[in-house]
Amino acid sequence: MFTTKTHPKDFRYFKEQYDESVERMFAAVGDLYAEYWNDFFHFALFQDEHESRESAFENTHKKYLEALRIHDARHVLELACGRGSFTNLLAEHTSGEVLGIDISRSQLSHVKRFKRPNLRFKHHDIMKVDELGQMFDAVVLMDAECYLPDKQLAVEKISNVMNPGARLLLLGWCKQDGLNSIQEELVLHPFMKYWAIPSLETPDNYKKYFEHNDFNIIEMTDLNNQVKRNWEFGYESALKGIKMLSFKDVPRLVWKGMTLGSEGVRLIKEQFPAAVYIKVGYDLGFLRYVYFLVEKK
Ligand SMILES: C[S@@+](CC[C@H](N)C(=O)[O-])C[C@H]1O[C@@H](n2cnc3c(N)ncnc32)[C@H](O)[C@@H]1O
Repeated sequence: MFTTKTHPKDFRYFKEQYDESVERMFAAVGDLYAEYWNDFFHFALFQDEHESRESAFENTHKKYLEALRIHDARHVLELACGRGSFTNLLAEHTSGEVLGIDISRSQLSHVKRFKRPNLRFKHHDIMKVDELGQMFDAVVLMDAECYLPDKQLAVEKISNVMNPGARLLLLGWCKQDGLNSIQEELVLHPFMKYWAIPSLETPDNYKKYFEHNDFNIIEMTDLNNQVKRNWEFGYESALKGIKMLSFKDVPRLVWKGMTLGSEGVRLIKEQFPAAVYIKVGYDLGFLRYVYFLVEKK
């Protein structure tokens, strides 16, 4: 049985041991999401209620590639590249060098499918992006900043590896400004606990971090209306999952490169309440999906 009450210790663990908690979480649930969602662990922007999911993803990616001015980029970095599908798309659209980094080895175990001379992947932590020893002129981070233990420090470190004029595209899972503690506790904390998220940032705080780290803000848009069909789809997929899944599916879903034991089963089970709480969070408007396009001065 799950409870809504989250102990502060959970969030401290997610912050202090984020590398371990994120790795374990994706080792347990990565393949489950690939099966019930798709290979891109981010949202598609829908133009209307009739557009197919496939077309929405295609148009979303086209928009992101243009925003990054991918054709002209010589050194491109995807932070938290996950299973590598979007990194592969980046490499397809430029003759420049493309690097995808992620902290999860189970996620990266899927990137071997993509082979291009200008494409590389590395097991690496965003919080140590400066240790790559490289500068970039296009950087993208989709649906992953919420896992970072210190958002402000992350923006500073990312800024330090970007050339003047370089663009950063960030798709963030933010919380609405001005929520009170009971609203956060009842709606946001449960899903954060199930997803190993240490904290959620407000859009305005990101704006401050960009401004303090030598970025010009080109565009900052709340996309909740355009992504609504994603969380409906997520919720329906969770219902489908609960009808079809059984304990015998667990060994097939959990990544074999890590010993998770009963924690793997728990993490898989928790994706059901996570999907429910995410839908509630978006329906209430407490969760905001925000597009930030910024340029280094
Ligand atoms: C929801 S998935 C998104 C993956 C990919 N951006 C996509 O859209 O398909 C979140 C990803 O963030 C990665 N991640 C979380 N914290 C990270 C960190 N500190 N450094 C690198 N990757 C991280 C996870 O391993 C996971 O692959």
